[in-house]
Amino acid sequence: MASLSLDEKLRLLHGATDPDDSSVGYVPPIPRVGIPALRMVDGPMGVRAVGGSATAFPASVALAATWNPRLAREQGASMAREARAHGQNVLLAPGTNVVRVPHCGRNFEYYSEDPHLSARFAAASVRGIQSEDVVATVKHYVANNQETNRYRVSAAVSERALREIYLPAFRAAVEEADVGAVMTAYNRVNGTHMSDHRPLLRDVLKDEFGFDGFVMSDWWGTESSVGAARAGLDVEMPGVTFEERATAERLPEDVDPADVEFPETLPDMHEGGLFGEPLRDAIESGAVDESVVDGKVRRVLETMARFGLLGADSDGGRRGGELDTPRHRQLARRIAVEGTVLLKNEGALPLDEAAAVALVGPNADAAKLGGGGSSEVTPVARTSPVDGLRERAAECRFERGVPRITESSLFDAFGAGDGGESTADADDADDDASLDAALEAAAEADCAVVVVQDDTTESEDRDDLRLPGRQDELVSAVADAADRTVVVLRTGGPVQLPWVDEVDAVLETWYAGQAEGEALAAVLYGDADPGGRLPLTFGRRADDYPTAAPERFPGANDEVDYSEGVFVGYRYFDREDIAPLFPFGHGRSYASFEYGESSVERDGDEVTVTVPVRNVGNRPGKEVVQVYVRDEDPPVPRPPRELKGFETVRLDPGERRRASVTLDRDAFAYYDQDEGWVVSEGRFTLLVGRSAREIRDRVSVALG
Ligand code: BGC
Repeated sequence: MASLSLDEKLRLLHGATDPDDSSVGYVPPIPRVGIPALRMVDGPMGVRAVGGSATAFPASVALAATWNPRLAREQGASMAREARAHGQNVLLAPGTNVVRVPHCGRNFEYYSEDPHLSARFAAASVRGIQSEDVVATVKHYVANNQETNRYRVSAAVSERALREIYLPAFRAAVEEADVGAVMTAYNRVNGTHMSDHRPLLRDVLKDEFGFDGFVMSDWWGTESSVGAARAGLDVEMPGVTFEERATAERLPEDVDPADVEFPETLPDMHEGGLFGEPLRDAIESGAVDESVVDGKVRRVLETMARFGLLGADSDGGRRGGELDTPRHRQLARRIAVEGTVLLKNEGALPLDEAAAVALVGPNADAAKLGGGGSSEVTPVARTSPVDGLRERAAECRFERGVPRITESSLFDAFGAGDGGESTADADDADDDASLDAALEAAAEADCAVVVVQDDTTESEDRDDLRLPGRQDELVSAVADAADRTVVVLRTGGPVQLPWVDEVDAVLETWYAGQAEGEALAAVLYGDADPGGRLPLTFGRRADDYPTAAPERFPGANDEVDYSEGVFVGYRYFDREDIAPLFPFGHGRSYASFEYGESSVERDGDEVTVTVPVRNVGNRPGKEVVQVYVRDEDPPVPRPPRELKGFETVRLDPGERRRASVTLDRDAFAYYDQDEGWVVSEGRFTLLVGRSAREIRDRVSVALG
């Protein structure tokens, strides 16, 4: 660092154009002193390789629905190997924002409405990515909980809600997994843009959590030069204007980049370079001390060194890697299976081997890889529900039923993709959808499987929670016509199911990625237990969710009021005593489980609760034992129950095992503005169950 000129230092603090056009973000090399370039590429559902392909894993919400953080670790490691195969050093993943608003267009890229579950997955994913010498990036720090007005909106949020709900996943990524990079959110928090937020960047993230990697802005999400530099932003991304990057954007030839106008759903990409010239001016005028710049350069270089990207022998991390290997394909399939949630089953599943199946659904002949935006991945191979069922079923007739659902993408605004293949699939004029044909197929079959989906993308939220197009009508009509009806949901979050009482079974497969078809067939036929549990609540009505009031979502006058405080997701349904359609943690298995009596052991401040679980069904199955904590006499309003631990057990028929969950003191604490984390003296109840609403046992502990 001592030998770098100020110009060279500044070059390390903002992105530039990648001469190879291989990355989404590029920090240029300084060959004179042997510093190689740093290449960044998107996740979190696979590598969004510019112009190339990669394994398309299920969406993060599906991953979280496995309640199996080991799979997050494995997926992280696999994505990192694929990033390396593409010559990339930094993965812009995982996304760890808490699901606050059911309408949010980006919920599929996040884990859960619960901070504990999110934190377990964030830490595991980061560990996996970094185990393969690729820098992980937790994003978007913090309170980026909606896409509407994301570049301007300010989250008016209490310190308590930040600490208890929105920060834990970031904290776990730093404190437990030593994450190398953090990306700031586009939005503001309590009036200050996140790139300029000194209390949250410098005081909380760096000083308090001890983050020693570098903080980068979201793309074109740096608000200022001096403010951001002083607040703790280290690297401005992508650092170049749209014009400078236009080749990478692959614009149609006749379009002049300077003429492109960006809709409100995109940042002003004609701006850039705030950490270049303007920062040098600020140093020269004394507005920013050069030592501040040195601190940032040190963070970038130390992170590169830690990941083996510096030094005489370094090839800039361009070694090896693995792409689309059998183990990555199998992992994509396994996560899809384990993330599938059996919401309802009245005897229709598993399907009979000999059953004649009518497969109905407007988009069932294309794999549901993901939602739109920076997480789009182009796989080498993919299987759709039609492929999967044709392979597995004794007999299968496919009918679209109603016109195809158009899939939106953030990139539609460019008129061309940003390297990834757009999933947009416009309504075909010559669509072969016929409701009559679908009903005829349903009536003739032993079982109808109806595949329906939503349409979500980064940069937009859903207008309502209904399934788009004529899909609700389709499900009701098929349910009327068929003997048995199984509905397969492909959604990024909760949707309304007005026909839920008319159908025999409902599966939620989220966006299941490239192996969707095989995974779906395996679950439908009982080759595999649907291992998933809901990482978020399905309400009965749109008004039942905590953010139903317009000031809470989408907000007004560029402000959104987080006045529900810590009562996010099931915490709100519980406090308001609203019965959800399907509660947080819910998911059925093809097996049945009997819980024995729980026992508690104390070791200082640690409490371990152990419960025996027996599979009393006739198939092997996976059970997720969940432990919720309730403060019986809280000095401040607290959620009636909060998830603080869980353990997965796999049991053969008749088998019995003990599941153990250990809670430390933090599991009982709430956050007080003045005193910090507080554990109140008194009684706590530990609720042991298979969802937030299906509690099988309770034990009481006293804490002093
Ligand atoms: C997204 C980030 C992403 C970045 C680079 C932004 O639009 O918010 O999550 O990493 O683009 O593609």
